[in-house]
Amino acid sequence: MMQTVHVALGERAYDVHIGAGLIAQAGAQVAPLLRRPKLWIVTETNVAALHLDALQDGLRQAGLMSEALILPAGEGTKSWPYLIQVVEWLLAEKVERRDVVIAFGGGVIGDLVGFACAILRRGVRFVQLPTSLLAQVDSSVGGKTGINTAHGKNLVGAFHQPSLVLADIDVLGTLAPRDFLAGYGEVVKYGLLGDAGFFDWLEQNGPALAGGDAGLRAEAVRHSVQMKADIVVRDETEQGDRALLNLGHTFGHALEAATGYSDRLLHGEGVAIGCALAFALSARLGLCAQEEPSRVRAHLSKMKMKLDLSDIAGDLPDTDGLLALMGQDKKVVDGQLRFILARGIGQAFVAADVPRDVVRDVLHDALGVRS
Ligand code: GLY
Repeated sequence: MMQTVHVALGERAYDVHIGAGLIAQAGAQVAPLLRRPKLWIVTETNVAALHLDALQDGLRQAGLMSEALILPAGEGTKSWPYLIQVVEWLLAEKVERRDVVIAFGGGVIGDLVGFACAILRRGVRFVQLPTSLLAQVDSSVGGKTGINTAHGKNLVGAFHQPSLVLADIDVLGTLAPRDFLAGYGEVVKYGLLGDAGFFDWLEQNGPALAGGDAGLRAEAVRHSVQMKADIVVRDETEQGDRALLNLGHTFGHALEAATGYSDRLLHGEGVAIGCALAFALSARLGLCAQEEPSRVRAHLSKMKMKLDLSDIAGDLPDTDGLLALMGQDKKVVDGQLRFILARGIGQAFVAADVPRDVVRDVLHDALGVRS
């Protein structure tokens, strides 16, 4: 059964369909958007090996031709050289403004292809077919697109909403457990930032969901996407509330930068550790009771997720090194660190005036666990 979340953004409105078998049915879903029966798919090697035939066969059965560009898998693809490659390929293919491009992959492909479509001919439509849990619950919805540079993550990009998102729950069954759990970090984030009832639900159902229960997976994706859609509709370009979606990201991005955006730490793992640190910071600032960070940690630990800095292989910078990496975060305003803090589970808010020495204390303690 397919469920739909509508992202009500006026002339940029679109649907997110969530359900089993949506890759094979993509033709029927995408066809109403098309002016000519042809699509351009950008994907990566791992996704192509597993799912590209199913997608192209399904499109063919719906009478649609498709061409595919297969890029290397991994975060390194979300960069200037591959942006150029995608744009030049789409131009060589003579993709027109009225055409539709499919971003078929996880967050790296979605962000890269979305950005390529934002700048190609000043805006070409695209459809997101997210194949990771992280992309299904977060990056494929809301129109944030972009690439990383040597200066940090997502520092170059554009808001460009997709025309449709198809989240096929079946593909989650092909993810490595580590990748699934990294995406689950973003699911937990939704409960922590704005829905204590959802966090309760995850405490009850998280292990069965990770174990493969398709109904629970679909419900977790639907609920997360609905929460994201509600926030994006209120604040599409992140002038206010949308920043709540960055709970755990200020710490997480610094850790990702410190580990060179490598396999040492996946984005969702950084978010999960970052959420634990954001709650530790909130408790240290007296905003919430100590039980709240303990409950966050207990759930991440029960799910066998990375939780402490000592769970990250290899060396990390010292406290000041990590603080310096936070300085590049897009949430820095007038040199001040802005954090998403919480008055409790489900009660996050944007704090503009977090004292640097308290952040330093939290990092110092977190790094101390390593010795
Ligand atoms: N991933 C955060 C946002 O979409 O705003």
